[in-house]
Amino acid sequence: MTILIAYATTDGHTRKIARFCADHLSARHSVELLNLDDSEGLDLSRFQGIILAGSVHVHNFQRPLVAFAKANKAILQAKPSLFLAVSLSAAGKDADDLQGLRDCHTAFEAETGWVPGTSADVAGAFRFTEYDYFKAWMMKRIAVKKGQEVDENADREFTDWAALARLVDQWAAGQFATVQGVVGDDADSVACTMSGN
Ligand SMILES: Cc1cc2nc3c(=O)[nH]c(=O)nc-3n(C[C@H](O)[C@H](O)[C@H](O)COP(=O)(O)O)c2cc1C
Repeated sequence: MTILIAYATTDGHTRKIARFCADHLSARHSVELLNLDDSEGLDLSRFQGIILAGSVHVHNFQRPLVAFAKANKAILQAKPSLFLAVSLSAAGKDADDLQGLRDCHTAFEAETGWVPGTSADVAGAFRFTEYDYFKAWMMKRIAVKKGQEVDENADREFTDWAALARLVDQWAAGQFATVQGVVGDDADSVACTMSGN
C-alpha cells in the first residue's frame, strides 16, 4: 500500500509520532511523510491510504491540519484514512478532559467536513525542552494540577509506542472495526472505541 502520513505539530511530539509510524509501516508499505506546513500542490490521488496527525492546543487542532482536511475532504473521505489526535487529555482518565477531547473531534469534523475512517486519541507529551518560559510555567501548573510529577528540564512522554505500532498495523491491514484506540502509556492507558469504515 502507498501511504501518506501528513502531520501538524507545535512542539514536535506529533512529528515524532508521525516519524515513528512512517518508520514502522515502511517495513511493509511505501510511505511518504509530510509536514502539513509544506503541503501545497500535493496530489492525494496516488495514495491508497492516508494518515493525518495533529495535536490539541487549547482545545483546537493546528490550523494547517484543519485547512488541509477541509480542502481535501472529498478525497480523504473516499480513501482509507486514520486520524491520530495527540493530546495530554488522552494520557489520563479525567472525565471532563475526555469529554473535552470528544468535543475537539466534533468541532474538527464540523469545521472540516471530514469524518475520518478511523480515529484514535494518542497520549502526547510535556516537551519542556521546547517550551519558552511562560509555556513551561503554564504547563508545570497544569501538570501539578493533574498530579503529574514533571521535571522542568526534561520531556515527559505518555505515548504507548508498542500500542501505536499495533494500531497502525491493524489500520493498514484493514481491520478497522476491531481496533481499539491507543491512549495513555503502558501503566495508565484508557481504551477508546474507534470508528471504522
Ligand atoms: C499551550 C498548550 C496547550 C495545550 N492544550 C491542550 C488541550 O487543550 N487539551 C489537551 O488535551 N492537551 C493540550 N495540550 C497538550 C498537547 O496536546 C501535548 O503536549 C501534545 O503532545 C503536543 O503535541 P506537539 O508537540 O506535536 O505539539 C496543550 C499543550 C500546550 C503546550
